[in-house]
Amino acid sequence: MTVDIKKAQDVYKDAGESVIFTTLMLNHKDLKTEKDAIAEFSDMSNSIINSMRIRDPEAQAHIAWGFGSDAWDYLFPNAPKPKELENFKEIKGPKYTAVSTPGDIFIHVRSKKMAVCYELMDQFMGILRPITSVEDETHGFRYIEGRAIIGFIDGTENPAGIESMDYTLIDDDPEFNNGSYAFAQKYIHNMEAWKSLKTEDQEKAIGRHKFSDRELDDDEKLPNAHNVASKDEEGGVEHKIVRMNVPFSDPAKDITGTYFIGYSKDFAVTNRMLTNMFTKSDRLLDFSTPITGNLFFIPSKTTLEKIADGDY
Ligand code: HEM
Repeated sequence: MTVDIKKAQDVYKDAGESVIFTTLMLNHKDLKTEKDAIAEFSDMSNSIINSMRIRDPEAQAHIAWGFGSDAWDYLFPNAPKPKELENFKEIKGPKYTAVSTPGDIFIHVRSKKMAVCYELMDQFMGILRPITSVEDETHGFRYIEGRAIIGFIDGTENPAGIESMDYTLIDDDPEFNNGSYAFAQKYIHNMEAWKSLKTEDQEKAIGRHKFSDRELDDDEKLPNAHNVASKDEEGGVEHKIVRMNVPFSDPAKDITGTYFIGYSKDFAVTNRMLTNMFTKSDRLLDFSTPITGNLFFIPSKTTLEKIADGDY
């Protein structure tokens, strides 16, 4: 089936300048109340975002939100289930582990203005707060020149613009076409250790030149350079996902990290990238520790309408 971008949430746009990532847990107290609130949120989220785009078009607000596997089973036990939606299974490499952590509802809001992210989240939480608790809330930002906080331009090999929907929108699961899978993983960096590396050693670790962003020749890269270890070339073809990572930091507390978010129409691709990174002990992992790991299904607007109408 061909995908229809008009039916999709914002799983293909840019990473934004100010970003809020929120992971919520359902209260599991009263299914009917929780289901009603989710139906209301499914109905209202689109109009809240449309209203914000009218109120401040320049802010370029974008939002995607969705469900973890346990939440889907709890809320919609009799409905069909997106075929790849399951709890993320921890990946144990020889040195490092991609942990799996809880998450029922995920919201990814971004805009040119933090005020707009705040306003959207404030309205969303008005509906969701009574039925949830907060598992994680991370405020990210676009770093100078669109660089990752480790100093390298991030997203160069990402599919760009309209092309990205070919990689993010589900097209082989009829009930859930135009939805997407989001993998969210919050990393804390050891910035002191990273900064103590010489620029050439950082470049060998990432596989690109720091200033110009040009790719290093293969024989200049470490065998476990990030852009070698993260590649998915299953079946001799390069597979891509859409990454919208941003840094976050509490500088006074010396806590700095990257919130990784990858959208794909086929979670298996993201999972193979992760498996490669952790089994090959990607050099980036010597300086980056994941503290969360969740897979979420991001429904299309068609699915959100069904949820709003109580069809599930
Ligand atoms: C600590 C978190 C991470 C940081 C700071 C980071 C940063 C970067 C940077 C700077 C690049 C090079 C430029 C580019 O093509 O975007 C890159 C490439 C890439 N990253 Fe990451 N990344 C992180 C985690 C991940 C994870 C978890 C995945 C996979 C699930 C991933 C997948 C990729 C892929 C596929 C490429 C492109 C490789 C190529 O074809 O050249 N990254 N990343």
